[in-house]
Amino acid sequence: MIHNSVLEVIGNTPIVRLNKVAAGVKAHVYAKLEFANPGGSLKDRVGWWLIADAEHRGVLKPGGVVIEATGGNTGVGLAMAAAVKGYQCIFVVPEKVSAEKQKTLRAFGARVIVTPTGLLPDDPRSNYAVARRLADETPNAIYIDQYNNPANLDHHYRYTGPEILRQMPDIDAFVAGIGTGGTVMGVGKFLKEHKPGVDIIAVDPIGSVIHDTFKYGESRSPSKSYLVEGIGKQWLPGIFDFKLIDDVVQINDKESFLMTRKILTDEGIFAGASSGSAVVGALRWIADQGDRLDGKKVLVIFVDSGYRYISKVYDDDWMRKNGFLDADTGSVDR
Ligand SMILES: Cc1ncc(COP(=O)(O)O)c(C=O)c1O
Repeated sequence: MIHNSVLEVIGNTPIVRLNKVAAGVKAHVYAKLEFANPGGSLKDRVGWWLIADAEHRGVLKPGGVVIEATGGNTGVGLAMAAAVKGYQCIFVVPEKVSAEKQKTLRAFGARVIVTPTGLLPDDPRSNYAVARRLADETPNAIYIDQYNNPANLDHHYRYTGPEILRQMPDIDAFVAGIGTGGTVMGVGKFLKEHKPGVDIIAVDPIGSVIHDTFKYGESRSPSKSYLVEGIGKQWLPGIFDFKLIDDVVQINDKESFLMTRKILTDEGIFAGASSGSAVVGALRWIADQGDRLDGKKVLVIFVDSGYRYISKVYDDDWMRKNGFLDADTGSVDR
């Protein structure tokens, strides 16, 4: 099939069964490989849609400037759509965002501004506040704001959810890392409406406030930094609706990074680190359910590709420096 632009290639990503890494649980675990999107992540879906929505609302005009605070992947999705449609882009990223993602954004011709990591949106130095200020100061510019923009969740409700149900009509549970919440809540909303009884599970790194706020209505453990990218938050995005999810599972950096490498060596799937987090979370949640899920189908979202983290999770020196691998041989420090 011939497509008129790269944007038409977004979506319809494959689902692959996880065999060895899920051998310890009796549920059947599958991965939806979102890195098969043309810009390399699930966020291609959102980037295209957020631009289309801004055009539709009349706030993005021809020749306009698209500004976003991003962990990188939404930026790539926006940059891809902007290239096709003729907009300029400015992205404000926290410094923890991998060099690969920052270079990719620059390769698209975007201006990239780097801010300190872990600041709250009301801190004027945060990537959110800088993006908002730039949008105010730049003529013909809009701040996309995926964190508070209902079109983010709406996209997954309209497109990703139906795609999943088409591909896997007998799905029993859906598991995704949570960042803006757009994926897990948008897909969750659709699946809950069309498949009552389905479980919707979010995976959150230790140090983020999402888990405690979901469970106890407040953050009980101190928020602290973590190295996995794209998931977790120190504050709650405006599009969050906790009614759309059933549970939040906590994971840590080390188990996420080791699982990400195992997914490559044991399954041959070259995924980013939040995919490892999502698998660890899925296996932990399945194990906690007793035999309720024996023989059931659990789908895990793999958001992006290992290529975005060559200098991190796939670099033995970086892994050792951060205490995730043994100092000597690179063997796994359990
Ligand atoms: C690598 C990665 N994983 C997971 C997520 C979380 O997705 P969502 O923002 O839809 O919650 C993101 C979001 O940017 C991401 O970049």
